[in-house]
Amino acid sequence: MSGIAFTLNGAPVQLQQADPGRTLLEFLRETRGLNGTKEGCNEGDCGACTVLVSDETGHRALNACILLMPQLDGKSLTTIEGLKGPGGQLHPVQSEMIACHGSQCGFCTPGIVMSLATAHLNGDARDDQVLAGNLCRCTGYAPIIRAAEAARKEPPPAWLKPETALICPPISRGEAPAAPGGSAPPLRPSSKAELAEALLAHPQARLVAGATDIGLWVTKQLRDISPAIFLNGVSDMAGIEREGDQIRIGAMVTFEQLRAALRAEHPAFAALLDRFASLQIRNAATIGGNIANGSPIGDSPPALIAMGARLTLRRGAARREIALEAFFLDYGRQDRQPGEFVEFITLPARAPDLRCYKISKRFDQDISALCGCFNLRRAGGRITEARIAFGGMAGTPKRASACEAALSGAEWNEATIRRAMQAIADDYQPLSDMRASAGYRLQVAQNLLLRAFHDLNGDQTIASIREVQA
Ligand SMILES: Cc1cc2nc3c(=O)[nH]c(=O)nc-3n(C[C@H](O)[C@H](O)[C@H](O)COP(=O)(O)OP(=O)(O)OC[C@H]3O[C@@H](n4cnc5c(N)ncnc54)[C@H](O)[C@@H]3O)c2cc1C
Ligand code: FES
Ligand code: FES
Repeated sequence: MSGIAFTLNGAPVQLQQADPGRTLLEFLRETRGLNGTKEGCNEGDCGACTVLVSDETGHRALNACILLMPQLDGKSLTTIEGLKGPGGQLHPVQSEMIACHGSQCGFCTPGIVMSLATAHLNGDARDDQVLAGNLCRCTGYAPIIRAAEAARKEPPPAWLKPETALICPPISRGEAPAAPGGSAPPLRPSSKAELAEALLAHPQARLVAGATDIGLWVTKQLRDISPAIFLNGVSDMAGIEREGDQIRIGAMVTFEQLRAALRAEHPAFAALLDRFASLQIRNAATIGGNIANGSPIGDSPPALIAMGARLTLRRGAARREIALEAFFLDYGRQDRQPGEFVEFITLPARAPDLRCYKISKRFDQDISALCGCFNLRRAGGRITEARIAFGGMAGTPKRASACEAALSGAEWNEATIRRAMQAIADDYQPLSDMRASAGYRLQVAQNLLLRAFHDLNGDQTIASIREVQA
C-alpha cells in the first residue's frame, strides 16, 4: 500500500501515492495554498512550521518541515488556518496573543500559536517546555507566556471538542497503482512480523521512524530516501512493557512517551530527556532511531549503556540480544546486518545510582557537546560496580573502561574519584569541533565524575545550569 489518508482541518484527504521524500510543509504550502504554516529553518529547530497532529493516542505538536507525508496516514491534521471556529471565532490562544501583544514581526507566531493551542488542548501548563522549540527573535517570551496563562482560564473551544472531533474517521485510501515489477517494499507495514518480512526481502530499504534525522537528509542534503519503509504503522513496536525487574521499550517509543513513562523509575534519565531537543522533536523522535543512527552525540545511548541496557535486533524471525555498547563499532559503523532492525531495548527496572549530565551551549533544543552518565553502585564504603559512558568524547557512545577500573572495588571517597578522573584521559581522545574544544571536553568529563560523587553523597551542588549562586 502506498496510498495514505488523513484529515486536513476536518476535510478528508486521500493520496494514492504518498511520496516518501515529500514534507508536509511542502504539501501544505505548494499544493494547498496553506501558507500560514511558515518555513524558517527547515530543519526542526525554530518551530515556525508547527502543526497539531491528532490520533487515538492524543494530540501532538509536530514540525511540518521534517514530517514526511507517509507519517500522516490515519491522522487528523490541524494547521493554523483550521484553528478558528466555524463562525471565524478566534481560539483563546489567538485572542490572548493579540491582547497580550505576543507578536511583532509575526513570522514565528503561527507556530507559537499552534504549540500553545496543542498544550491548551492537552491541559499542559509547562510553558517553558512547550515553547522550547519555538524561536521568537523579536517579541521576547514574557508576553507570549502571559498569553498562554490567560488562555488557560478558558476551556478548549467547542469546535476542538469532544476529543474525537480531531480523530481521523476511516477514509478510503483508494487503489494504489501496482509498483513496477512488484519490486518496491510496502510503504507502511502494520506489524513487526510484516516489517521483518519486508526488510528481509528488501534489505536495501531505508527505515523511517520519526524522521527527525532523516527529514534533514531530505531538506538539507536533498537525498533521495527511496525505497523507504515507514515504521509509524508498526504499533506492536511502540509499547513499554514491565516484566519483573526489567523494562522493555519498543524501538518506536518516542522520547516524549518515554520521558513521561520513566519519570518514577528512572528520574535521572527522565530529567536528561527533558533536555532532549524540543517538545515537537520529542513527539516524533524514537529511541530506536536514536540508537540506530549510531551518532556519537545521541543523548540516550550514554544513559542506557550506564544502566546496562541490552539491544534486541531482529532479522526475519531470528532475534539476537547484545549489550548496547557492542552495537557501536566505530564512527558511522554499527553491528547491524542487512535485513536486521532494532526491535526493542531492555533496561533494569531501576537504577537508583544513575546520574546523567548533558553539556550544551543552550539549555533547551541543543545537541550535546558531551553527555556523561554515571552508575556507581556502592556497599560498605566501597564501589561495587562502576558503569560510566559518555557521548561526544569519541566516534561512538563509549564506556570509560579505565575510569571504571580505577573505581571498581576502591573506597568511596574523593581521593578515589580524583584518581579515576585522571584515568578518563586514558579512555578518550576527544575532538575539537564547533561545539567544544578537545581540552574543554576532557576537563568537563573529569569534572562531571566529581559532580556525580557529590550528587550521590547528597552534597549541595548547583542544581541547574540556569541557577546562579550568589
Ligand atoms: C532540531 C533537532 C534537535 C535534536 N536534538 C537532539 C538531542 O537533543 N539529542 C539527541 O540525541 N538527538 C537530537 N536530535 C536528533 C534526533 O532527534 C534523534 O537522533 C532521534 O532519536 C532520531 O529518531 P527518529 O525516530 O526521528 O529516527 P529517523 O530519523 O526516522 O531515523 C534515524 C536513523 O535510524 C534508522 N532507524 C530508525 N528506526 C530504526 C529501527 N527500528 N531499526 C533500525 N534502524 C532504524 C533510520 O533508518 C535512520 O538511519 C535532534 C534532531 C533535530 C532535528
Ligand atoms: S521550519 Fe523551522 S522547525 Fe520547521
Ligand atoms: S514575532 Fe518576530 S520572530 Fe517572533
